[in-house]
Amino acid sequence: MSMKTVRVLSGKARVAGVMGWPVAHSRSPRLHGYWLAKYEIDGAYVPLAVRPENLAAALSALSKLGFAGVNVTVPHKETVAGLVDECNPTVLRIGAVNTVVIGSDGRVIGNNTDGYGFLENLRERAPSWRAGAGAAVLLGAGGAARAIAAALLDSGVPLVRIVNRTRARADELIRVLDGRLEAVDWEHRAKALEGAALLVNTTTLGMVGQPPLAIDLAALPRTAVVNDIVYVPLETPLLTAARARGYPVVDGLGMLLHQARPGFRAWFGRDPEVDQGLRDFILADLGA
Ligand code: ATR
Repeated sequence: MSMKTVRVLSGKARVAGVMGWPVAHSRSPRLHGYWLAKYEIDGAYVPLAVRPENLAAALSALSKLGFAGVNVTVPHKETVAGLVDECNPTVLRIGAVNTVVIGSDGRVIGNNTDGYGFLENLRERAPSWRAGAGAAVLLGAGGAARAIAAALLDSGVPLVRIVNRTRARADELIRVLDGRLEAVDWEHRAKALEGAALLVNTTTLGMVGQPPLAIDLAALPRTAVVNDIVYVPLETPLLTAARARGYPVVDGLGMLLHQARPGFRAWFGRDPEVDQGLRDFILADLGA
């Protein structure tokens, strides 16, 4: 390696990371590392393997260690929501934190940028989509669905239909978010597409090793956008089927990239760009 490619930190370097258990699967160090190198920032982003029983201590140690903040991933997102000193209304609504910023006074501030990342990616990749154009149909009722539903409602989508295999989870999501939402039984998913302007898969169906998502798209209006948040593989069976029928399609990689921007901006002082170079860099690691 030539000296040129060696990146050296100064004593003033800003430090951030990602807390998870396990954390080895996380792509965040690679993603933030790309931006730190691209912008030649004096900063580091490290994986932090934190066991659940050590989470509270690890979180309160951040300010003592001088960390600028961290991302939070599985299985800590919900627990951290109950441990922060301060959080924004999004966190209160969805009950999960993915981004922590340490304030200048040492306070632990929680945010959730998953919904933001989803919307930024949708707007970038499907510029024809308008929030007011019609209902959004969300397949799934997990943490991702919760963040996306909240973001869509906030952006002015007139109705969000939650279609989930386990009906009780859809009902619970609707109760918690308390907005223009309705639950639809899984077996009626094809009919739920009538009049919709957006279809989003937030289930694990279509992911490598999982069965494909089976859904008849016939009732979905021709102008509707189909967005799968699965990104391994990038082209899921749902996106292939939607593309073949002529729908604008959006893959899941961009949500992963855009949700990382607010944290990077807060910790390192620059709103980083999501460009093709970054997509290729992350895709190379996904084997996609
Ligand atoms: P996340 O927090 O990332 O959204 P999750 O909470 O594990 O992930 O949610 C996974 C979603 O995929 C759930 O909506 C799940 O449906 P259930 O609530 O019924 O479990 C959905 N899912 C997983 N496997 C499925 C399958 N074979 N058919 C239909 N839905 C499935």
